[in-house]
Amino acid sequence: MELPYEEEIRKLSHPEAPKIVTKEIPGPKAKEVLNKVYELETVTLLAPYVIPFVWYEAKGSTIMDPDGNIFIDMTAGIAVNAVGHSHPEVVEVIKAQAEKLMHTVDMPSPKRVELMEKLSKIAPGEMKGNVRVAFAMSGSDAAEMCLKFARWFTGRAEIIAFHGGYHGITTGTLALTTNPAYKKGLPPLVPGIHFAPYAYCYRCAFGQKGYPDCDLQCARYVEDLITKPGVGLTDKPAAVIMEPVQGEGGYIPPPGEFVKWVWKVCKENDVVFIDDEVQSGFCRTGKWFAIEHWGLTPDLLNLGKALGGDFPVAAVVGLKRLMDNLPKASQPVTFAGNALGCAVASKNIELMKRYRLDERAAKLGDYFMKMLKELEAESKIIGEVRGLGLMIGIEMVKDKKTKEPMDLDKMVWLVHRMRDKGVLAMICGRWGQVFRFMPPLVITKEMLDKVYEVFRDSVKELERQL
Ligand SMILES: Cc1ncc(COP(=O)(O)O)c(C=O)c1O
Repeated sequence: MELPYEEEIRKLSHPEAPKIVTKEIPGPKAKEVLNKVYELETVTLLAPYVIPFVWYEAKGSTIMDPDGNIFIDMTAGIAVNAVGHSHPEVVEVIKAQAEKLMHTVDMPSPKRVELMEKLSKIAPGEMKGNVRVAFAMSGSDAAEMCLKFARWFTGRAEIIAFHGGYHGITTGTLALTTNPAYKKGLPPLVPGIHFAPYAYCYRCAFGQKGYPDCDLQCARYVEDLITKPGVGLTDKPAAVIMEPVQGEGGYIPPPGEFVKWVWKVCKENDVVFIDDEVQSGFCRTGKWFAIEHWGLTPDLLNLGKALGGDFPVAAVVGLKRLMDNLPKASQPVTFAGNALGCAVASKNIELMKRYRLDERAAKLGDYFMKMLKELEAESKIIGEVRGLGLMIGIEMVKDKKTKEPMDLDKMVWLVHRMRDKGVLAMICGRWGQVFRFMPPLVITKEMLDKVYEVFRDSVKELERQL
């Protein structure tokens, strides 16, 4: 497999990974840190209760814990570190920029302009060279801005979101998110949100056997919500917000025709199409943005995670005609567009281009998926392997015929087992039944081979226990 800059990329990671030196994980030093976390930090924290793990040092696609155990990182900090952890050139940029300028109170700096120009050049379809940018600090507050922009632009309020969707943890975005684990006991949140089934073909909400025989009933449902009376909306919606490949909901690449259909209905009805690429953006799926797989131009593009990589940066990139309609000076955000963040994001984009990470993710993703698909064929508990590029989901089931989701405790056992063998991985999905592989895009083929062995052995071990 020919991959550009392979020698340089290989050197980014710890060469010995995976390497386990303690009898158990967490080891003694990690335990000390965890005990302090249990004492001091809110229990809402994601990691220590599901997977006790302490980060000490991270390079490329590897992580070291405080006890010197080295892991292959199949999480990229949830699809964040596309160019890898602590890339030497990113570190240099941080040092140089930190000595010059960091905070700019949401006001202009040359680095901010440099980043906006780069975003405009890489934006999908007709957005190229034709956008305005609004900076934010997290995917959640960027998504929150998308809602505001869509409402301002259309003068309408209601929003359509999808079953299994995830757009953030703030009040507005939580209203768009369906997972009760994040919102139980909190409503009323923001009213006027209507949900439609996503094109989750493995578990079709309409009981269909599969695409294309299903006649895309999920897309028809969205069309009905937008165009038919008596379906619960008081007017046409302001926007549809969609993840072009669903992330938290189970790493689900939908049939392209589903996305195209919904997009077309939005166009025909002046409904803003918000493309949430916080997780799927920046080369992860084998294209700069997942929406490019279907040749579509969104109205608003929601960006975060890999944009900043090691530094928190998020942004809404929107078509000029839409963004020009907003009231002037109406969206101040203290830390947004911080010069340090913009310098880091700009370097990240430069590295993604140089390493052709879109092409790399596509090739490595195909290679890894092929092995995983073979494993699916022989396994009793792998229901489906699916994905685009290096955004790969593995649906684990108790029974391939009934498709009953694997128990959460077994999924957690698998994650722990893989961690103990030196691979850090995560789960997602509505029942927590999907393994998701989203490594830094600078991971190597050899590392993926090692991950495959660890995953295969762990799955086989679980199979024997059941
Ligand atoms: C599609 C999508 N949108 C928005 C968010 C929220 O981003 P953040 O955690 O940076 O607020 C996420 C986070 O996982 C996401 O996957």
